[in-house]
Amino acid sequence: MIQFRDVSKKFGDEISILDKVSFSIDKGSFAFLIGNTGSGKTTIFRLIIRDLFPTEGNIVIDDLDVTNLPKNKVPHLRRKVGTVFQDLKLLMDRTVIENVILPLELSGFREKEAKDKAVEVLINVGLEGKLDKFPLQLSGGERQRVAIARALVFNPEIILADEPTGNLDLQTSFQILDLLESINKKGTTVFMATHNERIIEKTDKKVMLIEKGSIVEKNNKKEVKHAS
Ligand SMILES: Nc1ncnc2c1ncn2[C@@H]1O[C@H](COP(=O)(O)OP(=O)(O)O)[C@@H](O)[C@H]1O
Ligand SMILES: [Mg+2]
Repeated sequence: MIQFRDVSKKFGDEISILDKVSFSIDKGSFAFLIGNTGSGKTTIFRLIIRDLFPTEGNIVIDDLDVTNLPKNKVPHLRRKVGTVFQDLKLLMDRTVIENVILPLELSGFREKEAKDKAVEVLINVGLEGKLDKFPLQLSGGERQRVAIARALVFNPEIILADEPTGNLDLQTSFQILDLLESINKKGTTVFMATHNERIIEKTDKKVMLIEKGSIVEKNNKKEVKHAS
């Protein structure tokens, strides 16, 4: 469970991005975070993984008080919460498999174990034929899959996906959504930011809209029933 309790975030004295925001996302669920560019979606994700501190309020993930987590526990938090970054953060001079192996090796896995795990997650995301390609030799959708695979290496309980369909055509976007849904069905909580209306217009999942510093929950389940 992800919980925001009266969380405010300001950058400097003037720019207030979140104003006493409270919400929760149940364990094992799939929720969307929508809002215009600049509304604060990435900021929310950065707060969850302690890349930023809230100005006020608390963020709790299961039994972890993220806000007051000692620094030496932050790696534990980031293994529990896998992140697919908006800009992917892939290393362009390394192959697909090397990109996925790296976080494992940095956290002390032996070479063989790291490689086996990387192969396993890359197969899971449908990249078995691409292990030795470089990111620039892949399509946008395949690059997104590499970033998703890398977010999965520590068997996280939660995946944050920051606009994973941002640069993709609609068909590829829905394939990425399918992949995230299949990961969710295996028990991982998925929290996905998007500003793509087409992705969420027919969903029956929880949709949270961030606007002018506040979050409102939207549920369009009923509308879907009428439409079909
Ligand atoms: N480190 C920062 N310093 C100052 N302003 C920032 C910083 N990070 C983000 N912002 C501002 O906060 C707002 C929200 O940004 P962001 O969370 O990236 O929005 P989104 O992901 O919804 O597009 C933007 O106006 C952005 O310019
Ligand atoms: Mg963003």
